[in-house]
Amino acid sequence: MGTLSHQEARRTYDRIGSLQDSQRFYEDQATSLVLQHGDFTSAESVFEFGCGTGRFALRLFEEYLSDTANYRGVDVSPRMVRLAQSHLAPHSARAEVILTEGEPPDGEPSESYDRFVSNYVFDLLSHDDIRAVLREAHRMLRPNCLLCLSGISSGTGFISRIVASAVSRIQSIRPSLVGGCRPVDLLPFLPKSKWQVRHHSKVVAFGISSEVLIAKRC
Ligand SMILES: C[S@@+](CC[C@H](N)C(=O)[O-])C[C@H]1O[C@@H](n2cnc3c(N)ncnc32)[C@H](O)[C@@H]1O
Repeated sequence: MGTLSHQEARRTYDRIGSLQDSQRFYEDQATSLVLQHGDFTSAESVFEFGCGTGRFALRLFEEYLSDTANYRGVDVSPRMVRLAQSHLAPHSARAEVILTEGEPPDGEPSESYDRFVSNYVFDLLSHDDIRAVLREAHRMLRPNCLLCLSGISSGTGFISRIVASAVSRIQSIRPSLVGGCRPVDLLPFLPKSKWQVRHHSKVVAFGISSEVLIAKRC
């Protein structure tokens, strides 16, 4: 099944802009679990891949991070980067948001972060890109620090299975209609030799199933 190229993802999310936050009706339940299980109060350096409008980061600053913690977000969409920079302006001394070309973050320093977050981004990447971004996440995280992911997943009951297969079908015909996203189960992408799973769950909101995965970097 084809996925959006990085250029197509950029065009799609430049068009979507702040409307992305209207997806909170099904995302919030999963991202709240990420916040609950990600132990962000003890984090000193957080990296977010595909930060969108900066909504998750703002919540981190307002409710979880210590006064000394730093945040770095990246996104492929210039419009998203501008939105995130503006939402995070009150925290600009400790928050930076960078535009990328969509590549895995291979220019980031090794063992320099204690949280690697990505919400609803892996579900629009190719399997090769998912593996490549996870390799970088493992390299960037300090030992025993946490990978924190959420995204659209395969369904768990009758309705969510039907919704998941409808989303997959739409994505295969006209990916931009669903922001390039399709259900992807992330657990099989984490080799046991590299990651120890601390929390894994699926939640269903309005028929849409999301996976939440928190794993410790071995
Ligand atoms: C569905 S939105 C999710 C945004 C945000 N994480 C959230 O939960 O609201 C996907 C985001 O990932 C960004 N994105 C897509 N492909 C990317 C890539 N290869 N590298 C960085 N960002 C990417 C998009 O521009 C968009 O902001």
